[in-house]
Amino acid sequence: MTITFVGHGYVGLVTAAIFADLGNTVWVIGHTRGKIDNLKKGVIPIYEPGLEELVKRNVKAKRLLFTLDYDQAIPASKVVFIAVGTPPKATGEADLSVVFEVAEKIGKHLDGYTVVATKSTVPAGTNQKVKKIIETVKSDKTTFDVASVPEFLREGQALSDTLHPDRIVIGTESRQARDVMVELHKPIDGTFVLTNIETAEMIKYAANAFLATKISFANAIAQLSELTGADGIKVLTGIGLDKRVGSSFLSPGAGYGGSCFPKDVKALIAIARQYNYDFALLKDVEEINRQATSGIIMKAKKLLGGDLKNKSIGILGLSFKPDTDDMRDAPSIILVNAFQQDGAKVKAYDPIAMKSAQSKIKNVEFCKDSYSVATDADILIVVTEWNEFMQLDLQKIKNIMKQPILLDGRNIYDPEEVKKIGFVYQGVGRK
Ligand SMILES: NC(=O)c1ccc[n+]([C@@H]2O[C@H](COP(=O)([O-])OP(=O)(O)OC[C@H]3O[C@@H](n4cnc5c(N)ncnc54)[C@H](O)[C@@H]3O)[C@@H](O)[C@H]2O)c1
Repeated sequence: MTITFVGHGYVGLVTAAIFADLGNTVWVIGHTRGKIDNLKKGVIPIYEPGLEELVKRNVKAKRLLFTLDYDQAIPASKVVFIAVGTPPKATGEADLSVVFEVAEKIGKHLDGYTVVATKSTVPAGTNQKVKKIIETVKSDKTTFDVASVPEFLREGQALSDTLHPDRIVIGTESRQARDVMVELHKPIDGTFVLTNIETAEMIKYAANAFLATKISFANAIAQLSELTGADGIKVLTGIGLDKRVGSSFLSPGAGYGGSCFPKDVKALIAIARQYNYDFALLKDVEEINRQATSGIIMKAKKLLGGDLKNKSIGILGLSFKPDTDDMRDAPSIILVNAFQQDGAKVKAYDPIAMKSAQSKIKNVEFCKDSYSVATDADILIVVTEWNEFMQLDLQKIKNIMKQPILLDGRNIYDPEEVKKIGFVYQGVGRK
């Protein structure tokens, strides 16, 4: 099948490359000449494990094609995916301006019958607006349907998530559109959830809000465990083993971040507000998340005797989670700014996100590795649980630090082992 993706970010590029690898002819439309020229050479604008190789292979096979020109891609395509960003407005609502802008461009270039499927995360009712926009600009000779096909991939494991998703949600309002979408997704190994458009749109927000709620619940239990003397990690392991609960997303830490959870929780609160429903639960989820990040700041201050002025703080990990360079809403940004405001000097290292971090945090000494961060540091704080931090020579780290204080914001170390080496250790959820 010939298909098009508008947008080549974490969602658009990954999904396009996978569909190309499955034998489809896939056009990807961008809006920046430099990025499209690079993509044609197989140079990708984001980091995602395995993606560059997949893109290169499919570019070489001429199944993955990049363009700035809608006329080159849209008329030939049976399915056109919208995979552009939907960032939050100041009010918390999703900003849908780019979705509507590209819908108009798509509508003007349709030829024959096409399914226009939104992959971007959008509030219920958005696809109906996309439909109206296309109806007003399309030529009389063409027919189309809209569909909602929300994406659930996780950055860092996006390729396997796209090939083996837990479910494939397809929202349509015509049998023809549903059949086309099911045929396209048939080689993908996931359970189909076939539904109407509004339900599909809502599933995505409900899923992310639930996962954020689980993380905040874990952080609240961790906080309470610290106060009561319980071992919060064991408490969460103890409940996670119950199959009704499940152990994923039950790890306490520095708070959730990234391009999805913060914005989608905000957007769902805003959607609820429009219908006069006060989603108080999600407001608390946000508040607990803020406390999880500020809890790290308070612990650092306490460990350093209450004053951060001229202290050297070493940060391990900047991206919002491992295996990605995505710095959007990363807790590290809040931490670095707070430490700097209190007069501390911040050094940092991240295996992949150093370049993307440079536009988000300033006056930071970016180091070549974890040992350079630790050298002469008063405290070392693990903010992102990259695998390589689990393999560090902690004895060496202890010897090169000014003070051997380890604040483990992701609980990656065994407290007893690090204390034996001679560190003052503090995790999250353990006294
Ligand atoms: N990143 C994730 O893990 C993830 C997972 C599931 C769903 N989503 C959702 O998918 C959508 C896209 O997210 P993302 O992370 O891929 O975003 P992104 O910022 O990485 O990519 C957005 C893409 O849109 C393109 N774009 C912006 N304006 C454009 C325009 N006028 N014309 C054409 N292209 C334009 C950008 O160039 C970029 O390629 C969002 O709604 C997001 O909530 C993201």
